[in-house]
Amino acid sequence: MFFKNANNLLEKELLKEIDLDKIPKHIAIIMDGNGRWAKKRNLPRSFGHKAGVETIREIVKVCSNIGVKYLTLYAFSTENWKRPADEVNALMNLLVEYLKGELEELHKNNVIINYIGDISMLPDICQRELINSNIKTKKNTGLMLNLALNYGGRNEIVRAIKNIAKEVYNKNIEIDKIDENLISNYLYTSNIPDPDLLIRTSGELRISNFLLWQIAYTELWFTDVYWPDFKPYHLYKAIKDYQSRDRRFGNVK
Ligand code: IPE
Ligand code: IPE
Ligand code: MG
Repeated sequence: MFFKNANNLLEKELLKEIDLDKIPKHIAIIMDGNGRWAKKRNLPRSFGHKAGVETIREIVKVCSNIGVKYLTLYAFSTENWKRPADEVNALMNLLVEYLKGELEELHKNNVIINYIGDISMLPDICQRELINSNIKTKKNTGLMLNLALNYGGRNEIVRAIKNIAKEVYNKNIEIDKIDENLISNYLYTSNIPDPDLLIRTSGELRISNFLLWQIAYTELWFTDVYWPDFKPYHLYKAIKDYQSRDRRFGNVK
């Protein structure tokens, strides 16, 4: 175990109400609200991102401890390049800092560090840290921490279509063999099951180009809490709610 047990009473009580045999296998999170968290405190937006990294540290540990198998975090979208350069730089630096600071402990705790998205557009130092972290941890068997970086759901689908079209052109795939399974195998998430639970913080009720194909039957959970204020308590609430839902997948009971 990474960390001592739940550290406040409310959290402990809520944890008792969660069925540890029915933990969602894959949780995806749109970590939103860092900028507004900072603005509320009259701080620059980058302070919000820094505070958001603390939340990441804590949530990754909790997910690992309660037996989540995959945690996909939306860290930088294909649209986030529109932001001012200093904010983009601050985000990239935080990524490097996080990986450098956590790698040893994550590795010791059997976490696999993985990424999805076109990382070739990221600064070299980010690419290097990501690839090193992945190589070092890929044989681990615990939680897979999957960082979505320069990730966009539409971009992912376009990329898949191009790659499949090339295979058809080269006569490696017959058109009739193209089905949902084959398309899934051409996505960044080819080795990862679809998310069971998607959480978005900060009160926005939208998907913002995240995992468009993969969330067809994912359970959605929204909270007004800004990401830097998101605590294990909120995660447990989301999981408890998830466990009360009836997932029908179009069938009847
Ligand atoms: C989420 O917080 C972090 C990233 C998108 C990288 P925001 O920066 O979007 O914060 P708000 O939504 O402006 O408050
Ligand atoms: C989504 O948040 C992207 C990430 C959390 C990385 P945004 O803040 O970029 O989304 P919009 O612009 O509010 O839809
Ligand atoms: Mg936002």
